[in-house]
Amino acid sequence: MAEQNRKILFSRERIATEVKRLGQEISRDYGDEEVMLVGVLKGSFLFIADLIRELETPAIVDFVRLASYGSGTQTSGIIEFRKELEMPIKDRHVIIVEDIVDSGYTLECLFNKLLLQNPRSLKICTLIDKRARREVDIEADYIGISMEDGFIIGYGLDHDEKYRDLPDIYLVEES
Ligand code: IMP
Ligand code: MG
Repeated sequence: MAEQNRKILFSRERIATEVKRLGQEISRDYGDEEVMLVGVLKGSFLFIADLIRELETPAIVDFVRLASYGSGTQTSGIIEFRKELEMPIKDRHVIIVEDIVDSGYTLECLFNKLLLQNPRSLKICTLIDKRARREVDIEADYIGISMEDGFIIGYGLDHDEKYRDLPDIYLVEES
């Protein structure tokens, strides 16, 4: 991808501001009650690392790895679990931590699966809420930044596994 085909949409400063706010909201809601953050790999690895350091609430971490079939910038709606949780979530306050919600299929699938394991509570925190292509009725409880449409990369988000390392989030312009 040529560098002229991307431009900064959300700067590292904006991201840091929103992550700090999310940390404050979660800390206010849970107080001293321990939460378990469930990061959805791979895209959320930077977000969860920054978010957990903004929490005053005690937190533990686990990860799942999900992949939706199909490549490029389109989701297929078929979700594959490539890595399961390692800790039981029964009776815990669980927060799913996602990089981005697009069609919503990934989150819906994970949410319903975790709900069957009887957490004490189950909420969703997403850095980016991309609203234009939502196909299932699912809303995150904590939202960093909302946007309408467009494919973005950076701060964990990839295009064919590249660009996760960029500190800012870029909009990829179709050319
Ligand atoms: P959903 O199941 O359609 O909501 O897709 C969510 C997943 O698709 C996210 O966890 C990302 O891995 C990926 N995804 C959706 N939109 C983007 C984007 O703009 N950039 C990078 N990855 C994206
Ligand atoms: Mg993801």
